[in-house]
Amino acid sequence: MSAPAPARLVVLVSGSGTNLQALLDACADPAYGARVVAVGADREGIEGLARAERAGIPTFVHRVKDHDTREEWDRALAASCAEHLPDLIVSAGFMKLVSEEFLTRFGGRVVNTHPALSPSFPGMHGPQEALDYGVKVTGCTLFVIDGGVDTGPIVAQTVVPVEDDDDVESLHERIKVAERAMLVENVGRMAREGFTITDRKVRFGR
Ligand code: GRF
Repeated sequence: MSAPAPARLVVLVSGSGTNLQALLDACADPAYGARVVAVGADREGIEGLARAERAGIPTFVHRVKDHDTREEWDRALAASCAEHLPDLIVSAGFMKLVSEEFLTRFGGRVVNTHPALSPSFPGMHGPQEALDYGVKVTGCTLFVIDGGVDTGPIVAQTVVPVEDDDDVESLHERIKVAERAMLVENVGRMAREGFTITDRKVRFGR
């Protein structure tokens, strides 16, 4: 029997794209069960797009300021994602929220990685807020995006200790090492095994 076709991933980025790179590297192994079919961004000139171009992956960019309304931007982003027939959309350092309409269109198959242990420290400044609070451990969370800010059902979490001499850069860099491993392992499982969500509990399997 032939192997099932690899799951189609569309990855959304806004920055350096190290999480994207980890997925690209993992997808080079046919046994991983997924491939990145397109990379989308909300800005030009970022390393995340350069990584996609070097890997020969199609890219698209939609800047909010090029659209009359946020809703039009969101629809344009959704249309570009849809063109690539994604099985899963991975927001990997994508610094924008998408609408309920976007999420519904893709049947809840949109995940995000966040550099904190949800439900602590949602939003844009997870590592800084963890440091300011004085927590001894923080980490990263992979979740299925819902209508809120970093509130969706949790797929996986990894704990990262906070060191006494950490600043926000050193802490975020250590979280990102854990984040890349978490993303690769769990996106692979979602691709190969499928997943269900019941009462917020995400379970692998069909
Ligand atoms: C990650 O820590 C992500 O969770 C956060 O921004 C970082 C993106 O890193 N939102 P990269 O662009 O994948 O290198």
